[in-house]
Amino acid sequence: MKYFFLAYAIIAALFIGLMPTRGAKSPNAPIRLFPDMDEQDKLNAQKPDEFFADGQGSRQPVANTQPLGFNAEGLAEIGGIPEPEFGGGTGYYATGGIDGYFANGMPGEIGLDDENVAAFLHRGQEAFDINCAICHGKSGDGLGITGQFGVPGIANLTQDTYGQAAYPDGRLFDVISNGKGNMGGYKHNVALRDRWAIVAYVRALQTARKAPYDAVKEAFDKGIAAQAQ
Ligand code: HEC
Repeated sequence: MKYFFLAYAIIAALFIGLMPTRGAKSPNAPIRLFPDMDEQDKLNAQKPDEFFADGQGSRQPVANTQPLGFNAEGLAEIGGIPEPEFGGGTGYYATGGIDGYFANGMPGEIGLDDENVAAFLHRGQEAFDINCAICHGKSGDGLGITGQFGVPGIANLTQDTYGQAAYPDGRLFDVISNGKGNMGGYKHNVALRDRWAIVAYVRALQTARKAPYDAVKEAFDKGIAAQAQ
């Protein structure tokens, strides 16, 4: 015990001796235990900075940056590119439901016609490949890469249980928007229109699974011919 008090006294004396007197001015450089934390390269708003050629610390956004959810002019487009609409409404277009029931069909707001339906499906393919394929697989069969790393129970979207008769378009839209069980929702990441495009593309994947041989061959040959042009 007596050694304890001795050690305690020595450590306390060292500690007090090494601790600079707070508030006192000293001509000596301070002892810096973590110099990289005292001296960091960082930008101070409203302060000059020699790193940049124009000597200003405050920077403008990089050219053509699309600020999400911030639009100073209140325009529905930025730099000529329409700002994505993420929903929040109450109709079929925003919820997939009519009077509390999920319905089938593409909402009129999308304005589909014979001319633009191919581009719409193509957009759906892009959005599906980006957002869904890692889990559900590029063909929708549920064998995406994440399954190999332990994500359990990923749905096989080509099954009849997810076909239009048993699983209306509106319900598919709702699952994409709000998620279900282990799957998260995409309403904050994927624009409203793109979510409907994904619904349309999932239908295309399901149809392609069931297409008769002749139809597949015809479509394949058309694709080859289009590529050859
Ligand atoms: C991170 C992996 C993951 C991603 C990405 C993902 N899903 Fe899922 N999805 C799941 C899992 C897991 C389930 C099974 C959920 C459950 O029943 O618990 C599921 C279920 C579903 C279902 C069936 C839901 C039901 O009613 O049983 C549909 C439809 C679906 N996903 C569509 C999509 C679409 C479309 C996308 C792209 C926008 C997508 N998923 C993205 C993992 C994912």
